[in-house]
Amino acid sequence: MARVALVTGGSRGIGEAISKRLKADGYEVAATYAGNDEAAAAFTKETGIKTYKWNVADYDASKAGIEQVEADLGPIDVVVANAGITRDAPFHKMTPQQWKEVIDTNLTGVFNTVHPVWPGMRGRKFGRVIVISSINGQKGQFAQVNYAATKAGDLGIIKSLAQEGARAGITANAVCPGYIGTEMVRAIPEKVLNEVIIPQIPAGRLGEPEEIARCVAFLASDDAGFINGSTISANGAQFFV
Ligand code: CAA
Repeated sequence: MARVALVTGGSRGIGEAISKRLKADGYEVAATYAGNDEAAAAFTKETGIKTYKWNVADYDASKAGIEQVEADLGPIDVVVANAGITRDAPFHKMTPQQWKEVIDTNLTGVFNTVHPVWPGMRGRKFGRVIVISSINGQKGQFAQVNYAATKAGDLGIIKSLAQEGARAGITANAVCPGYIGTEMVRAIPEKVLNEVIIPQIPAGRLGEPEEIARCVAFLASDDAGFINGSTISANGAQFFV
């Protein structure tokens, strides 16, 4: 029977590429989205992948949504915590609201996504937890105190989950994308992107969402069973840990 994969934020950007790749690899995929009904409908029409709408920042909504996915598709074997937002501002201008929105979605959202599937994975003695962190959680980033805190937090989460899940056949790993050509990165002012950021990437280009999806597909596979608590950095040589 096909394994079931849940991808949060799975209808756009990096998440869209992950959903498509996992489907191509034979998984039964469920993709969540937060608000853009039109993009989700177009995504389902194009791919046949079922989408579910809930806010990952809301624990009860996540738990109920996950119960629905499992009722529709079966127990979740692979969970990809990908949903994330930016609210960039230099620290002296960052508002408590900008801090809170990013923490609630990007960090608490990972807890809310993984916690409801964890007991089932433990019971079945198999699971793959993959968290999409960021190069900016590794190196920090101008105007991203909030975002960098969440993405560094992701690495603490997977290293701890790895230790708890290992004996139950569960792996927990992170992918740290560099700057990938998605809406999120294209929202950076063009001058900053072209004159500050791209020159810092030795590869001389933004990454493709599919380049991140391939990392996720590997971590989800049986081949990656002994890789646990690790991070794959895919950033065009912009930063080394
Ligand atoms: N590095 C260094 N300097 C930067 C910078 C950066 N990445 N981004 C902006 N600056 C500089 C500007 O050039 C400008 O300098 P000058 O005053 O000398 O012209 C100054 O910071 C802007 O200061 P302001 O107080 O005017 O800033 P603002 O309130 O208008 O905010 C901004 C602008 C939000 C910082 C905007 O420039 C921005 O969005 N910058 C990009 C931040 C960024 O890189 N975010 C990453 C998004 S991608 C992502 O998050 C995905 C991932 O995981 C990789």
